[in-house]
Amino acid sequence: MAAPDTHDEVPWWREAVVYQVYVRSFADADGDGIGDIPGIRSRLAHLHALGVDAVWLTPFYPSPQADGGYDVADYRDVDPLFGSLDDFDGLVTDAHGLGLRVVVDIVPNHTSSAHEWFVAALASAPGSRERARYLFRNGCGEGGDEPPNDWQSRFGGPAWTRVDDAAATPGQWYLHLFDDAQPDLDWTNDEVKAEFESVLRFWLDRGVDGFRIDVAHGLAKDPAMPDLGEAAGHRPVDTAGHPHWDRDEVHDVYRSWRSVIDEYPGAPAFVGEAWVPNPERLARYVRADELHTSFNFHFLEAKWDASSMRAAIDESLGALVDVGAPATWVLSNHDVTRHVTRYGGGDVGTRRARAAALLMLALPGSAYVFQGEELGLPEVTALPDHARQDPTFRRTNGADVGRDGCRVPIPWSGDAPSYGFGPGAASWLPQPDEWAALAVAAQERDEGSMLHLYRDAIALRRALPALGDGAMSWLDTEPGVLAFTRDPGFACVVNFNGAPAAIPTALSGGDVLVASTPFDGGLLPADTAVWLP
Ligand code: NOJ
Repeated sequence: MAAPDTHDEVPWWREAVVYQVYVRSFADADGDGIGDIPGIRSRLAHLHALGVDAVWLTPFYPSPQADGGYDVADYRDVDPLFGSLDDFDGLVTDAHGLGLRVVVDIVPNHTSSAHEWFVAALASAPGSRERARYLFRNGCGEGGDEPPNDWQSRFGGPAWTRVDDAAATPGQWYLHLFDDAQPDLDWTNDEVKAEFESVLRFWLDRGVDGFRIDVAHGLAKDPAMPDLGEAAGHRPVDTAGHPHWDRDEVHDVYRSWRSVIDEYPGAPAFVGEAWVPNPERLARYVRADELHTSFNFHFLEAKWDASSMRAAIDESLGALVDVGAPATWVLSNHDVTRHVTRYGGGDVGTRRARAAALLMLALPGSAYVFQGEELGLPEVTALPDHARQDPTFRRTNGADVGRDGCRVPIPWSGDAPSYGFGPGAASWLPQPDEWAALAVAAQERDEGSMLHLYRDAIALRRALPALGDGAMSWLDTEPGVLAFTRDPGFACVVNFNGAPAAIPTALSGGDVLVASTPFDGGLLPADTAVWLP
């Protein structure tokens, strides 16, 4: 039975625990080795038992899968690889029946090159209405043989590809900040704006509870398209004043989107994916008339040490004070190395990941759990090159191995691949031999498992009025220890040191709500977090 909820008065998005399903890798019902929507439906009980409030689904739309589905060919359908619209509707009904909200991904920066708009653009002349939806430009140099500028793709290589123009000589170039199969849209174009508002309505009308906005910081480009001065092959980072990242014009888009979503009942909400230089820039995305929330990657990027974590927490909360938006906390997702590995790997990485989970779930705001994090999965670093599918691997000639290592299908049960992911052994990325012990069924039998820790902490978070939305206050501590309280009657202490440390005297001697490693009330063990009443 679900734990009693003490948080009914607060809008759900201010404090939800959202579980990220990477659709290809969650559960495979039809046995083709690729996860699908019927697979997700068959495993909703896991999310219910975990106690999360919502599930975010990565793109499941028709797509050539050049970038794991972030290359969308049709924004209003389901790829047959993953099921059908009926399957999607059934998933929403089942999820809602379990009290789980459903958030879908929207990909507005670019379409797939297989999208009918891009196919029409290629078949049309320069200057046509069809080309105006994308960013086609004439090349530089003699015969237009050089790209229009020096911008580089986020996945490596130039951000421009030349087309073979039957209708014009010389052929034009189109911009793609990601793969060449992901042409960027022109967000000054009214048709583009109208189309995406219509896509939002399409999914809202089907009952979704929100959207995760892909590359929310990338839609606007400097119309002058100035050179960045980057050496060829250099992959750009996000900086303020950049000609294509985090430009002020993107905010007009989100103000319009907010007025659309606000027409719908049930408080559907946005979460933006905006990689920006600092929490102040991030706060601009969550002003009252823009997005409800935005991922906080500054926390994700903080190192495992008390001062880095405290700075990330303070700066994130501080920047939000003026706009009144809640913070979000993320440790892992499908684009970054899993945090067990980032925090050192092996037993140390796992121990720190357990402590990090208690820290994240105690902070004010909403929290994101990437599938498999509740199992303590590490990054899979030993994938054979032939199995890798992330376009980054190909576009950097293997210099960057890419993101496949965090996308390996998750283990559910049994002793051999696919560990219950699908009916047989098939999985689109190979699973390591050691994953039997990390499977959901194995961890359910082990009270000390990562899965039990997540379940216990999320149930407590639901039951305790102090957790979720609200405020926190730091306590004085020993070096390498962070401690904070939340009202009423809650404290979290995290020891980032590699040796035991004292907890603040005001907190010592009482009961323990949950601890990430066994804690007898004396010194807090190394790399350990504890929740106290
Ligand atoms: C961010 C997504 O999370 C990532 O997986 C994708 O490759 C890029 N955006 C491009 O859509």
